[in-house]
Amino acid sequence: MIKGFIFDLDGVITDTAELHYEAWKKLSDEMSWDFDRELNEKLRGISRMDSIKVIMDHNKVTLEEQTVIDLATKKNDLYVASLDHMTPEDYLPGAKELLTHLRTEGFSVALGSASKNALKVLQQLNAMPYFDVIGDGNSVTKSKPEPDIFLYAAEKLRLPPNNCIVVEDAEKGIDAAKAGGFHSVGIGPEDRVGHADLRFDTMKEATLFEVKSHFADLF
Ligand code: G6P
Ligand code: MG
Repeated sequence: MIKGFIFDLDGVITDTAELHYEAWKKLSDEMSWDFDRELNEKLRGISRMDSIKVIMDHNKVTLEEQTVIDLATKKNDLYVASLDHMTPEDYLPGAKELLTHLRTEGFSVALGSASKNALKVLQQLNAMPYFDVIGDGNSVTKSKPEPDIFLYAAEKLRLPPNNCIVVEDAEKGIDAAKAGGFHSVGIGPEDRVGHADLRFDTMKEATLFEVKSHFADLF
């Protein structure tokens, strides 16, 4: 039986990928590092420190650990400042409708995000009331593709993984859901989330009706 839903944040509830891109781009320009949208795609779902390492590897750069931490902090300051402009108008189309529907139908709902800024994003969106449990980048140490963040959220919801559906836009997020024994819904193109149990191009198509139709035996 499906009793709970666990949502990724960035790229599922709201489109912060662009804000992350702008902050990494600014840092990269200052450092004279090559960084473009294609490389930004590789950062989808992975932690801040993993992200800067991907950018440095791409640029064949090695730096002392403390310098790397300082640079990641600099990027984060830029990113957090840009969140001030986010408003309750900034849900991805369909996201608020699905969250509302899950509330009215009485499902348990958790957040399972790699971001350490998840609370701020949820507050800017006025989205806190949709969630029973918040799992974010501060909740676990091992990030996606490890399943830890989803296992943390399920445990807090007091549900076993096979009673939960994970909604994710990142390849590594679907990997994490599968590794944890969760059912999965992928948001995005086939070449990114085609390995999910069910896939939609955007959140707009991801209605509770469609999800229930696909997982009919489980509801
Ligand atoms: C999300 C995003 C990633 C980001 C990560 C950490 O998973 O998809 O692109 O790197 O969160 O975010 P943070 O806000 O902690 O830097
Ligand atoms: Mg995401």
